[in-house]
This record gives sequence, C-alpha cells and structure tokens, in this order.
Amino acid sequence: CGIVGYIGHREAYPIVIKGLQRLEYRGYDSAGVMIYDGNDIVVSKTKGKVVDLEQKSAAANMSGTIGIGHTRWATHGVPNDVNSHPHVSNSGDLVIIHNGIIENYAPLKEELIKRGYVFHSDTDTEVLVNLIEEVQKKEKLKLGKAVQVALNQVVGAYAIAVFDKKNPNEIVAARLGSPLAIGIGEGEYFIASDASPFIEYTSNAVYLEDGEMANIRLHKQMKVRKIKDDSLVDPYIQELKMNLEQIEKGGYDHFMLKEIYEQPSVIKDTYRGRLLANEGIIRMAGIEDNLEKFLNADRIIIVACGTSWHAGLVAEYIFEEFTRVPVEVEYASEFRYRNPIIGPKDVVIAISQSGETADTMAAIKLAKEKGAFVFGVCNVVGSSISRETHAGAYTHAGPEIGVASTKAFTTQITVLTMIALRLAKAKGTLSNTDYHMYLQELELIPEKVKEALGTNDIAKEIAATFIDAPNCLYLGRGYNFPVALEGALKLKEISYIHAEGYPAAEMKHGPIALIDEQMPVVVIAPRKGHYDKIVSNIQEIKSRSGRIIAVVTKGDTEVRKLADFVIEIPETSDALSPLLTTIPLQLLSYHIAVMRECNVDQPRNLAKSVTVE
Ligand code: G6P
Repeated sequence: CGIVGYIGHREAYPIVIKGLQRLEYRGYDSAGVMIYDGNDIVVSKTKGKVVDLEQKSAAANMSGTIGIGHTRWATHGVPNDVNSHPHVSNSGDLVIIHNGIIENYAPLKEELIKRGYVFHSDTDTEVLVNLIEEVQKKEKLKLGKAVQVALNQVVGAYAIAVFDKKNPNEIVAARLGSPLAIGIGEGEYFIASDASPFIEYTSNAVYLEDGEMANIRLHKQMKVRKIKDDSLVDPYIQELKMNLEQIEKGGYDHFMLKEIYEQPSVIKDTYRGRLLANEGIIRMAGIEDNLEKFLNADRIIIVACGTSWHAGLVAEYIFEEFTRVPVEVEYASEFRYRNPIIGPKDVVIAISQSGETADTMAAIKLAKEKGAFVFGVCNVVGSSISRETHAGAYTHAGPEIGVASTKAFTTQITVLTMIALRLAKAKGTLSNTDYHMYLQELELIPEKVKEALGTNDIAKEIAATFIDAPNCLYLGRGYNFPVALEGALKLKEISYIHAEGYPAAEMKHGPIALIDEQMPVVVIAPRKGHYDKIVSNIQEIKSRSGRIIAVVTKGDTEVRKLADFVIEIPETSDALSPLLTTIPLQLLSYHIAVMRECNVDQPRNLAKSVTVE
C-alpha cells in the first residue's frame, strides 16, 4: 500500500491525489482520502484506482490544508469501498491510513467489541484506529501518546498517519517494517511511503527508522521519538537526489516501455566510476571494504523474491564460473522459514529493487542473527534493506515505476557481474585474458542493449500472432535458463497468459506433453552456450508441431531454418548474454499485454513493493 499526508498552507487534496498516483505502484485495489476543512473531516474512498477516487470525490468539497490518503493492496478484507482507507474511529474523531499488517488484530478486535466498539470493515486497520481511541479515552491522552501506547500493544508491521479532529493541527506518523518518508518544507510537512509525492515541493526529507514515530505539528519543529521507550531522536535530514522527470513517462505510452528503453543508459549508470575497463579495474566501495569477508566465504547464499530472484539465479551461474565459490539461491520466503544452516563463514547477498520486500527483509534479519555477513543489492537509495544490510552496492537504475520489473533486473545482473569479476581477480580464478575480455565486453553492453532494442518491431509482429495464445513455454539453457524464467514471469504478470520457463533439456520430462500447433515456444538460443544442444531441443519441438520463436545471435542460420520467428541480438560472451537476450522478451510481453488491452503498468492483483509477508 501507499500512504500520503499533507499539513501546511496549500490545498491538500491535489497534493494527496497526485501523490497517491505516484505511489500507485505500491497497490491499486482501492483508494481513499480524508481532508480537514477547518471544521470537520471529509472522507472519500472507493474500490478501484486513484482516478476512480477522483471521480467519486468530484462533487464533494475537498478544500482544506490538511489531508491524508491511501492506495491499497488488499491483505485483510476484499477490495471494496468499506475496506478502503482512511478508517475512522467510532467517535468519528480519529482518522488513520496504514500500510502493513496488524497480526494480533483478532484478539484486539474481540476486546474492543466487548467494550462496545462497532466495526464496519474487515480490516486490521480499523482495529488499530479504535484501539488508539480506546487508549486515548481511557487514559485521557493526547494523540501522540495514545498512538504510542496503542502501538506498543500491536504485533505486526506498519507505516501509519493518524489525525485527530479534536486537535487538528497535528498528524502523528509511525513506522515499523513499512517505509515512511517525511518531507520538510517551509511551514509545511509531507508524509509518504517514498519521497516521490513531494519532490517538487522540497528536497529535504527524513526517513523514519523502524520503531520511530513523529509528531508533525503546524509551525512547529517535528519531534521524532522511539515508540518503545519514548526517547527523543535527532532526525537525520537527507537531501533528495530524485527529480521529477525520472518519475514521469517522458513521451512513452507506459512506464514499462520507458524503463525498457532506459536500459542502455542505466546500465552505464550502474557501472559508471566502478568499471575501468582499460585499466583492468573494478572497484566498488562496499566490496573493497569487505573484501576479506567475501574471500573467506565458504559459500554465498543469495536471497530475493520475484524478478530479483531470477537475477540471483543468473548470478549463481556467473559467481560459480568466475570465482569457484559455491552459490545457493533461495526464495527469501522459503529461506526464512526452514531453519537454514548458515553461519559466520557464509556471505548472504540480498537482492531487492525496492529494498522494502518484507520476506527479503526477514531473511536478512535471520541471516544476521546467525552471524552471516549480509550484502545488499538494492535500487532504492536509503531503503530499509539498504540500511539493514552490513554493506551493499546500489544498482542506480533510477525509479522503476512499472510493476513488471525490467531495468532493475538488468542492472542487478550488472552489479552482480562486477562483484563476481572483482572477486575472481582477487582469487585468481579467471585467466587474465578472460578477466580483461569480460571487462571490455561489459563496457560494450549498453551499446549492444541499444541494438537489441531494435527488435521492437519484430517483437510487435510476433506479439500480434500470439495474442490469443492460452499458454506459452520459455526455454533456455545455462545462463539463459533464468532468462527463460524471467521471460515467462513477464508474460504472466502483464498479459495474464499462463507461461512457464524451463531448462530446455528438462522439456522432455514434462512440458513436451503440452506442445501442439497452438503452443508458442520461446527458445533462447544464442550461439555461445550449448548451441548444438539447444538446436536439438528446437528440433524436438518442431517434430511435435510447436511454434518456435527463437532468440538468436545476429547472423545465425541454423536455428532460422527451424524456427517460425527469429529475433536477432548482438553477439556477446555466454556469461553476459542474459543482459541482451532478456530485452526482446521484455518487448514481446509488453506488446502482447498492450494488444490484449491489459493495464501494463498496473497489472491486476500485483504490487511493485510487497511489504507484507
Ligand atoms: C513484487 C514485484 C516484482 C518484484 C518482487 C521483488 O512481486 O511485483 O516485480 O520482482 O516484488 O521485489 P524487490 O523490490 O524485492 O526486488
């Protein structure tokens, strides 16, 4: 979910609405807003997106200089008007927005019902706002204190903003496990899940730490304190580097397409200052400072979710090949719940675009408890995971807004490749020639990605042919097996076509049963890397009348004879090929989704940043 709040001298409603739109990547099942008009509160909320909320609120008077808003990704209770936030307490005085989960909401709710509270929604959030009210009444407390006492009774995760009509010059915000940024302007404050809702108003922001709360009062200095023991904290005011252009579509129809096309430049941003190909140097502060830890590691364990997990799989192949260190790649959610064997000799690499994924965060905490050194590869600067890990390297891809991850994936692979090369150099596990060849090749990747983007027209043509396919199979081997998984994930996520990725040779142990003349099979078959084997796999598909879309190296003739469609990408080394083969697959799923009239940037049921388990 995403939350926004404003208290100051401007009209709050347009700020909150625009802010919610920027945060819609965090969830878009339903949306709501509360405005205080100087006298009373006006609440408007609805199932659907922020545009639906705007429509619904069009007739209401939304004038006022204090407001809060929410865009939801449902956890407790189906997306409907009643379950949407903000939630109002029984007295009608307190209003809350909440991102996260209150795990012990059931016993708290029971207790409150016994005390006469009535609940209108199925949400855990409505329980929290009434709990605050109950504390406030019973102990005759001001809002801030009541929020604090209530939060100390709560188990779970939250980023909240609470408003009290009885004392309308204040918003109280708190966080545990879900992000919360506070923008500080001249006589005004902004509250949001990330800084994007307020970057045009101020570049000063405080990111609350876990377990902190803030009393935000008009014309007063904000007070930040620890929820547990009430101690005051001196908040660190950061200067934001984000700019407006980065979070707008810039002429593209969708954020996803813009982000696909940004890849040549953001990959360059990722290696800028870190890769000096001519000098044969790779230097990344997070690695240099902790080189011994990496060199002494018996094992590297990679934890991540979704697309980041796929980047981890590519990295497994690269690390083992380059550094000869055993690597395991784990879904963060599985790792954390299976009592993993892990200790001080292990290095854990956590990969996360958002740096907020709850399962990845929990896996990091577990690994730290067990004494492992944890290194983060995040995109969002200052995110929770980037702060929780011992050290890390940012991907520098800029804000990724399309829910389906694209540039985050290729920049993650770029960072991980650089790490592997740096370690290989220190360990002497790559020949000098290979080491220098990879550095040179990596430097050429942005140009080659640009060339790979030239496959857009053919991807569109292929998309038109397969727009009604009920299923699709993606096959790859070696470094391109994870690319097959990622290609299938992209298609599922945004076009709702069922797709599976498989190692090409495994096809004969199951998926081959699905192949018929309807079935599109995308085969990733660059010339370097098990080429002959994959040609045999293509023949197996062909003899069962499957329809083959092959991603091949420029100039390929052999696969061309067998495939129904070929997509040519530039030549590169086997290990770096995922950075190129992935590009046409992103374009293919993009065009299929557009042709099927799906909402590309906000596919149903998904959210970009999943801050719940
Ligand atoms: C969600 C997103 C995916 C993303 C995954 C992990 O499911 O929809 O695109 O890959 O979370 O997110 P992270 O921010 O940790 O990389």
